[in-house]
Amino acid sequence: MTETTKTIRLNNGVEMPLLGLGVYKALGNDAQQAVSCALEHGYRLIDTASVYKNEDGVGRALSSSSIPREELFITTKVWNTAQRLGDIEGAFQRSLERLGLSYVDLYLIHWPVPGCYLETWRTLERLYHSGRVRAIGVSNFEIRHLETLSQISDITPAVNQIEVHPLCSHSELVSYCQEHGIAVQAYSPLARGAYRNKEVLLQIGRQYGKSSIQAGLRWMLQKNISVIPKAVQPEHIMANADVWDFELNDIEMQAIDALNENYRTSDPPEDMQ
Ligand SMILES: NC(=O)c1ccc[n+]([C@@H]2O[C@H](COP(=O)([O-])OP(=O)(O)OC[C@H]3O[C@@H](n4cnc5c(N)ncnc54)[C@H](OP(=O)(O)O)[C@@H]3O)[C@@H](O)[C@H]2O)c1
Repeated sequence: MTETTKTIRLNNGVEMPLLGLGVYKALGNDAQQAVSCALEHGYRLIDTASVYKNEDGVGRALSSSSIPREELFITTKVWNTAQRLGDIEGAFQRSLERLGLSYVDLYLIHWPVPGCYLETWRTLERLYHSGRVRAIGVSNFEIRHLETLSQISDITPAVNQIEVHPLCSHSELVSYCQEHGIAVQAYSPLARGAYRNKEVLLQIGRQYGKSSIQAGLRWMLQKNISVIPKAVQPEHIMANADVWDFELNDIEMQAIDALNENYRTSDPPEDMQ
């Protein structure tokens, strides 16, 4: 196993790479090229969603790769519209077809749509039992959503994909998830560039010949948080995977912890109606 394919064991025993490529806003050939480039540089986890409108581009990159399917970890998500229509099975099947796959490794509820997400979870349970998904999880769930879910289901989500980065540590939610066997996956782990020029991160990175972004990614990895930075530029794709040959000490970890300002790039769940 190379370092880029280091994994975290999910609560059902499935191994998920700690580092992956996100492809939100990578459209047309960009998604295909970014995924192909990432796979060449050791990435094995790709994070897409039906609402990103690029599952077909991801699928083309997967089908042109010679990497065995079982070495890949492909995540996609069910969007809010399908939840409201109660069309989860149909949405899932269409995602599979666009991706050109017979199964996905992780299927997530993209947002906890009020009045819908419990029923959506029931359908994800059925998909999981049918063997077409290796793990099921959630995204943008807060503690209250996770608590409600635990009252109606025996399956604990394998993953909660939430916004985490040095400017938004979400420490209470991260602790809750990790204490309950739910792996945390950080979306927007670069805060879309917002911490790139933070002096603390620049300085810490400099100690190790790394950038502020690499220091930020490393901070999450050392907390056992999976990261899915989005990049289409090959130099970004490569730089984001070059985070395994240094280790932040406790003082540096705490200095980055202190940068939290609850800054979010995405709206909180209650605003996603
Ligand atoms: N579940 C959810 O609700 C949710 C919400 C948001 C995001 N996500 C997932 O998380 C992924 C990542 O989040 P994100 O797309 O919001 O943003 P992000 O990963 O925080 O930032 C992406 C931006 O940073 C740039 N970048 C990448 N690597 C860089 C580097 N080494 N140096 C400088 N700039 C760099 C990218 O540029 P280039 O593309 O030009 O290389 C892009 O503009 C998404 O793609 C998606 O898969 C999920």
